[in-house]
Amino acid sequence: MTVELKILRFDPERDQKPHEETYRVEAGPMDRVLDLLHRVKYEQDGTLTFRRSCAHGVCGSDAMLINGRNRLACKIRVDQLGGKKITVAPLPGLPVLKDLVVDMEEFFAKFRSVQPYLQNEAIPPVRERRQSQHDRDRFDDTTKCILCAACTTSCPSFWAKPEYVGPAAIVNAHRFIFDTRDDRADERLEILSDKDGVWRCRTIFNCTDACPRGIHITQAILEVSSAIVGKRS
Ligand code: SF4
Ligand code: F3S
Ligand code: FES
Repeated sequence: MTVELKILRFDPERDQKPHEETYRVEAGPMDRVLDLLHRVKYEQDGTLTFRRSCAHGVCGSDAMLINGRNRLACKIRVDQLGGKKITVAPLPGLPVLKDLVVDMEEFFAKFRSVQPYLQNEAIPPVRERRQSQHDRDRFDDTTKCILCAACTTSCPSFWAKPEYVGPAAIVNAHRFIFDTRDDRADERLEILSDKDGVWRCRTIFNCTDACPRGIHITQAILEVSSAIVGKRS
C-alpha cells in the first residue's frame, strides 16, 4: 500500500520556522515507521535528518512523536497505526536541532544530576557484590530504561516547567535508591526533594503510557516520593 507520511521539517540554516512535508511511500503492514523514514531518506530526500542506531528498540535514539504519541520509530509498525496516513514530528518540549533531531543535552544533564551509578565505599569483595533475588527484584523494572526521553517529553508538568527533573531521571534514580548494594540513596532523595524534583509530578501517567519498555514510571515516582516522606518522618 501507499502511505502518506507527513513529517515536520526544520533546518535552522534555511527555515524561519518548522513546516510539514508530505511523502508518499510504499509500505507493508509489518514495516516500522523507521523503515519508512529510511525509504524517504534513501529514495526521495537525502536531507531528511533523524537519529537511529540499533533499529531494534534497544538504543533509545529514535523516539519521536508519531501520530500524536511519543514512540520509538523502530518499534511501531504501520499496521499498529491503523491507516494510510502517518504524521511524524520531533519529541515535544526539547529544542529542535534539525528535522527529527532534538537537543538532548538538558535531558542528560538531569539524568546525570541524580547520580545514576552504583556508589559504595566499602572494600569490594573478591568476587561480585552479592544480592538476594528479592532485593534485586525491588528495582528490576527501572533497570530497563534506554534513555529514549519519550516519558519526560510527554509530561505536561515538564512542558509547563522545563526545570522539572522529569520522569526519566527519577526512574534512573529509583534504580539505585532501592539497590541494597548502594550507599547513597539519601543523597539522591535529597536531590529529588528539590522544588523541581518529584513534587512536580501530578500523576498524569503520560510517561507510563509513552514508555517503550513498559516501565511502571508513575509507580516508581510514587515510590521515590514515599521514600522522601519516610525519611523525613
Ligand atoms: Fe524511555 Fe521509558 Fe526510560 Fe523514559 S523510562 S527514558 S520512556 S525507556
Ligand atoms: Fe508527568 Fe508522568 Fe508525573 S506524565 S506528571 S511524570 S506521572
Ligand atoms: Fe535503537 Fe530505535 S533505533 S531504539
